[in-house]
Amino acid sequence: MSESDKESNNVIWGGRFSSGPSAIMQEINPSIDFDWKLFAHDIAVSRAHAFMLGERGIIDAADASSIAIGLDRILSEMNAGTFSFSRALEDIHMNVEARLTELIGPAAGRLHTARSRNDQVATDFKLYVRDMIDRLNTQCRRLQWALAVKALDCADMVMPGFTHLQSAQPVTFGHHLLAYVEMLHRDRGRFSDARRRGNECPLGAAALAGTSFPIDRYMTAELLGFDRPTANSLDSVSDRDFALEVLAAGTITVLHLSRFAEEIILWVTPQFGFLKLSDAFTTGSSIMPQKRNPDAAELIRAKTGRILGAFTGLSLVLKALPLSYSKDMQEDKEPVFDALETLSLALCAMTALVKDMQPDPVAMRRAAMSGFSTATDLADWLVSRLSMPFRDAHHIAGRLVALAESGGVGLQDLSLAQMQSIEPCINEDIFSVLSVEQSVSSRISYGGTAPENVRKMAENWCEFLKEERGSDPSEGPY
Ligand code: ARG
Repeated sequence: MSESDKESNNVIWGGRFSSGPSAIMQEINPSIDFDWKLFAHDIAVSRAHAFMLGERGIIDAADASSIAIGLDRILSEMNAGTFSFSRALEDIHMNVEARLTELIGPAAGRLHTARSRNDQVATDFKLYVRDMIDRLNTQCRRLQWALAVKALDCADMVMPGFTHLQSAQPVTFGHHLLAYVEMLHRDRGRFSDARRRGNECPLGAAALAGTSFPIDRYMTAELLGFDRPTANSLDSVSDRDFALEVLAAGTITVLHLSRFAEEIILWVTPQFGFLKLSDAFTTGSSIMPQKRNPDAAELIRAKTGRILGAFTGLSLVLKALPLSYSKDMQEDKEPVFDALETLSLALCAMTALVKDMQPDPVAMRRAAMSGFSTATDLADWLVSRLSMPFRDAHHIAGRLVALAESGGVGLQDLSLAQMQSIEPCINEDIFSVLSVEQSVSSRISYGGTAPENVRKMAENWCEFLKEERGSDPSEGPY
C-alpha cells in the first residue's frame, strides 16, 4: 500500500468510498494514539482466530500458518519498537492487518473472515483489563504483606484511636495497620469477582449478529484463556461492564489508599509526630528549610480523583447508548488505561511508604495518654466491679473526667479521695485500668486491639499471604 493510498482512502474498509476523510475527520477518528497499547492482545486474538479458521477449514492450512508467522513477526517489530504506526489506519487492528498484507500478501485478507473489529476490540480490551486485574491483585497482596509485617512489629505499640479525629480509646499501631489489610482483602475480592464475571470471550460475535461461517467459539475462548464464549452476540460487542466493574473496584481501592495517605500526612506533621518518612519519600521546600513534605502520600491521596473520574467518564459514555457497537465506545480506552495504571503506581508507592515509615512509639504513647482516653475503661470498671448499670457508670466517669480536666491532670493523676468524692465505692483497684497499656491489653474480644490479638492476626496474615504468593520467582522479594 502506498503512503498516498493510506492517506487518501482507507484500503481496508474504503471499497465504497470515492474520497478520503477530511482533515478534521482524520483528527477525530483514529484511536491508534492510545490503542497501540493493545498490540500484544490484538495479536494474540488474531493468532487464536487464524488458528481456529485453519482448524475448521474456513481458510486453508497454508494461509493459516503464513498468517501466524506474519503476526509473530509483527509482534517482534512492535516489541522492538521498530513498527511504524499510521494514524491513517485508524487503530491497532488495521495497523496490524495492513502490515500483515505487506508481509504475507493476499493471505492476510483472509484473517478477517468471520470476525469484525467490534468483537475484536471487545476481546482485546477484555484481555488488557484481565491482565491489569491480575497485576493489581498482586500489588494489593504486596501492600497487604508490607502492612502485616509492620503490624507484627508494632503489635503492642500504643497509639490513640480516633473517632471524629478526637482521641477516643487507645489502640495499637499494629491494629490500625491491619485494618488496611482487611480493606485490601475486600478490594481483592472485588477484583477477583470482576475477573470471574468478565472472563467470557466475545470473539466470533462478529459485527453484532454472529456469523454464517462454521467457527468454533469454544476453541478461541479456550486458546485465549477465557472460561467460555459470551452467549449473545449483541451483548458481546456492546458490553463494557468488565471495564466499569474494574473501575468501580479500583475506585474503592484508591479511596482506601487515600484514607491511609491522609493519615500518613497528618501523622508526619510535627504536631502529631507519630511517624517519620525518610528523605527518599519526602521533599524539601525551596524557601522553608525546615520542611519535609510527604509528597508521595499527597499524590496518592490526589490520584483518587482521576480514578473516580474515569468511572464517571466511562459511565457517561455508556449511558443511554443503544445496542450494539457505536463509535462512542472507542472513548472507553483512555480512561481505563489511565486509571488502572495510576492505581498500579499508587499501590506500589503506598507499599514503599509502608516499608519506609518509622513510627515514634514515645510520641504515640504520649498522645494516647492525653484526652482522657481511658475514660471508657473507668466506666467499664464501675460496671464490672461495682455492678453499676453502664449508663450510670458513664455518668460518673464523665464527672471524673470533668474533675481531672478542671485540675489540668489526667484521670490516672486523680487521688483516690478525689475519686471517692464522686463515687464513694471506688477503691485502689481502679488505678489498674487507667493506663493505656492496660486498656489495650484488656480488649481481647475477637477483632479487638489487644496486642496478643494483633500479633496472632498479623501472623495469620503473613502466613496466608506467603502461601498465596507461592514460590513464583517472577514475583521477586517483598
Ligand atoms: N477503534 C475502534 C474502537 O476502539 C475499533 C472498533 C471499530 N469498529 C467500527 N465499527 N468502526 O472502538
